[in-house]
Amino acid sequence: MRIGIIGAGHIGSTLARHFAGIGHEVVIANSRGPETLAELVDGIEGSVRAVGAGEAAWFGQVVVVSVPYGRVGELPLGELRDKVVVDTCNYSPERDGHEPDLDDDSTTSSEKVRARTHSNLVKAFNAIRWDVLRDRGRPKGAPDRLGIPLSGDDEEAVAVVAGLIRDIGFDPVNAGHLGGGGRKHQPGTDVYTAELTAHELDARLHAL
Ligand SMILES: NC(=O)c1ccc[n+]([C@@H]2O[C@H](COP(=O)([O-])OP(=O)(O)OC[C@H]3O[C@@H](n4cnc5c(N)ncnc54)[C@H](OP(=O)(O)O)[C@@H]3O)[C@@H](O)[C@H]2O)c1
Repeated sequence: MRIGIIGAGHIGSTLARHFAGIGHEVVIANSRGPETLAELVDGIEGSVRAVGAGEAAWFGQVVVVSVPYGRVGELPLGELRDKVVVDTCNYSPERDGHEPDLDDDSTTSSEKVRARTHSNLVKAFNAIRWDVLRDRGRPKGAPDRLGIPLSGDDEEAVAVVAGLIRDIGFDPVNAGHLGGGGRKHQPGTDVYTAELTAHELDARLHAL
């Protein structure tokens, strides 16, 4: 599959390594330009290229958005229309600036990104620490394989992202719709960065 990754920091670069490692064709972008990513891409096995954000958005059948939430407005959002977009972003008012409708929980950051992109957006990889994502992939059936929550309204898009999660060594756990389900794995919830098996994660999500 062709995967575009916008954001080459902790989460974006970790996902690039995982996805290229299992045979996907990956491109990755940051804000400073592809030349600043030469060392990163040289150090990754498999098919990965550094590009600009516009090309990453255009190239990907799946596009991962993994930037500080407050910088989403800088991205080529129009290129993401109708695409499967994976939103790893979390709203952090200290870093991103306050947004009243997020502060009063009348909506969520992922719903706002979806509205701005008109994409088939799936919230995933937002609730796992980057180093856990890097190190804790395990074969299917391993007793210590961790679950990763995801949420979204487009069933096909959720299935695609669930498959990617599975293929890099984690169990996807569907938290439900983007709004209601997504709220269950945002910062401040008791599944956020908790290292749980799929069974434990499912139980906590459904107790909420
Ligand atoms: N760190 C974690 O463990 C973790 C876990 C789950 C979710 N998250 C969330 O996932 C997102 C990414 O986190 P992170 O820790 O990976 O961030 P990070 O290490 O700070 O990296 C952010 C990346 O976004 C890029 N970026 C910023 N503005 C951009 C733009 N306009 N166009 C293209 N790229 C741009 C930066 O590029 P430049 O360096 O060139 O500016 C950098 O590569 C955040 O929303 C975070 O809250 C983080």
